Amino acid sequence: WISHRYRRVFPWYAAVWPFHAGLTCVTTVPTVVRPGETLSSTHFERRAGGKGANQASAVAKAGGRVKLIGAVGEDGAHLVRGLEATGVDISDVIVDNSEPTGRAIIQLTPEGENCANYLLAPPLLSSPPTSADSSYTHLLLQNEIPWSATLAYLEHATKINATAVWNPSPLPSAEQLRAIPWGSLSWLIVNEGEVCGMLDVLGVGGDALQGSGQKTSQHATQLLEKLHAHPRFSQSVNVICTLGAQGLVALLSPSGTKKADSDVLHVPAAKLSGPVKDTTGAGDCFAGYFVAGLMEESAGSGPSGVVGVLRALRLAVKAAGLCVQRPGAVESTPVRSEVERSLG
Ligand code: ADP
Ligand code: NA
Repeated sequence: WISHRYRRVFPWYAAVWPFHAGLTCVTTVPTVVRPGETLSSTHFERRAGGKGANQASAVAKAGGRVKLIGAVGEDGAHLVRGLEATGVDISDVIVDNSEPTGRAIIQLTPEGENCANYLLAPPLLSSPPTSADSSYTHLLLQNEIPWSATLAYLEHATKINATAVWNPSPLPSAEQLRAIPWGSLSWLIVNEGEVCGMLDVLGVGGDALQGSGQKTSQHATQLLEKLHAHPRFSQSVNVICTLGAQGLVALLSPSGTKKADSDVLHVPAAKLSGPVKDTTGAGDCFAGYFVAGLMEESAGSGPSGVVGVLRALRLAVKAAGLCVQRPGAVESTPVRSEVERSLG
């Protein structure tokens, strides 16, 4: 969980956020290793990671106050120190000496990558914030913690009236997706593959998904409209579909005044000043910056409504654009002043 307090520009506010910090081991191999096979890798790299850690650090770099609650093994203590250096409050991170830190083992091949995740369960807060504790305003969830924890945090966010934002990556199972209490969510952040996966699980497959992989805003809009219209889904969820170099499409839930129409926003990707170096972590950079933007909006320091959302989306797209032009993942997320400069 993360708690924020903004002293510079805003009175104060906070975010709540369960997280996963982890290690990413990237090994470069000619082909993905098959059972029984041993391959020499040409390169091995250990990176700080975990989507929760990446996103928490992006919120902090954007200028938001963020507190992380979770667990790492003894081998992950340096990760926690690294997070603290980016401005994340790590006072509720437990170091559990009996378990290794959660990690992703990525085999990077010329054709792409393949990944296995090991999870270390973060504990729930022993004394979770109550509704009287209005310093927690936002919850940002990924899907690298056990499913029961995700559901518990979601439920808790509803109780304390915090805005819940979910980036369901890696994609939950069909059974899990069908059981999601969509009504407790305010924002869903997915990429095109994830929205197709979700539709597939909800029984919208086949022809409806044709043209996938095109990453056009028109196609993504159709996919989001299908998701919104699905009886299992809730129209009160705002959905963002990120589209790599094509930017994003957001489908905002119908406002009280015009119930029938959802607002569709298309935000193109940032204009790059150099070549794309590494897109790892761009999605996390985007999510963290976007939530920081939402926080500012809800603290009353920015425009409200659709204009405020658009402002937060544009800020996040600029940040992600800088991120992809730098090598690395979490360390390539720019700080706010760099993003402001590029907004020029
Ligand atoms: P994910 O990594 O989760 O699949 P995306 O690839 O959609 O996410 O990237 C997230 C955001 O990062 C995009 O919405 C876009 O703003 C930015 N981005 C990603 N790739 C590029 C790119 N090649 N050029 C410019 N911006 C990019
Ligand atoms: Na990068």
